[in-house]
Amino acid sequence: MVQTHEKTATSPVNIAVIKYWGKRDTELILPSNSSISITFSKEHLQSKTTIRASPLFEKTRLWLNGIEEINVINNKRLQNCFRETKLLRKEYEDKLSKEIGIDNVIPLSTYHLHICSVNNFPTAAGLASSASGFACLVYTLSQLYELPVSATELSKIARQGSGSACRSLFGGFVSWQMGSKQDGSDSQALQIASSDHWPELEVLICIISDAKKGTSSTEGMQSTVKTSTLLQHRINNVVPERMKLMTNSILRKDFNKFAELTMKDSNQFHACCLDTFPPIFYLNDTSRAIISVITEYNDKSGEYKAAYTFDAGPNAVIYALKRNIPEIINLISKYFPPNQDNQTFFSDPSKLFSDKKKLGKLPLPANFNENIIPVFPNDSVKQILHTCVGNGPRVKKDESLLNAAGFPK
Ligand code: DP6
Repeated sequence: MVQTHEKTATSPVNIAVIKYWGKRDTELILPSNSSISITFSKEHLQSKTTIRASPLFEKTRLWLNGIEEINVINNKRLQNCFRETKLLRKEYEDKLSKEIGIDNVIPLSTYHLHICSVNNFPTAAGLASSASGFACLVYTLSQLYELPVSATELSKIARQGSGSACRSLFGGFVSWQMGSKQDGSDSQALQIASSDHWPELEVLICIISDAKKGTSSTEGMQSTVKTSTLLQHRINNVVPERMKLMTNSILRKDFNKFAELTMKDSNQFHACCLDTFPPIFYLNDTSRAIISVITEYNDKSGEYKAAYTFDAGPNAVIYALKRNIPEIINLISKYFPPNQDNQTFFSDPSKLFSDKKKLGKLPLPANFNENIIPVFPNDSVKQILHTCVGNGPRVKKDESLLNAAGFPK
């Protein structure tokens, strides 16, 4: 009877408020600037991965959302994550057998793996699935291999899968320190504050329909590195100061400062995309209209009540304090009405609205200029997700995505 060695774990999505854009080393995935992100609750957005190691497996195989990825398995970034974790496992095995004198150490580092990974959100929605996916892979491997290493150590491995993945190793508020060493040994994620630090801070994600597939972040950022002079200014003169200011705004729970920095940094990232030659456009008309609505809302409120940010795609992520969330959902629903089905549009996990028919029909905030933008065609925003700040990766005991034979259930 061959013993099963298997672990299942979940990992969260993170969305940056100081953006990572540009690499100084594309092999090791070393960034040209530091960044800061917030980790979202896994209740609504997560990757889940089961990894089994067995001497009976003939090769390492990977299934993503139920489909075997025959080509992806040889992907260099994936191979880097396997190599680094196996190396640590081998060191650990040697230590156990040689230094501590334990017999029969299981040589997991030599076994092939079956890996099954699923997301509970549509991968096509462009919601940082590579970040949660690679963080989950590396974390689950570290648990399977029982590696005696910290989350920061693991972040250096996840970074080699996808840069932003290093920040998903932690919950709460996270920085990725760019580091300066050539070998990348100081380019790592650190937690600024845990998930319960600022419970009033919540998140709305507006999923925007976008038929065409845009430039990937990996390609886009290197094109910006090669051609944009604005990016050089950003790296040298803007981000270092913003890293300090953003960290302080988070530690002090100063939403006004946090919101201003978040919006400015998103704007500058997209300005760098426009400054790329040929230019890259990630925002579409709906994204820009959301910016107008939020700007008018903040103007008429006399303070920042909402902060938008956009990654390498048109979806809007809005950070706001809990008390202002219903007002913002009403605003978005008014200008970007759903198709008939209000339940799919906004599932209202926190039960904010007693009657969903009222979505978009409640009074606008005082003095709000109703004509700031026209009402958009139905379904321009497909869905609004409401979530909060969450924890880092966790092991799921008694759960498995693999059947007895080691194939997806
Ligand atoms: C705009 O981490 O996807 O989301 O390192 O090439 O895999 P690679 O890129 P990736 O880039 C993320 C860019 C961003 C900003 C951010 O998350 O900081």
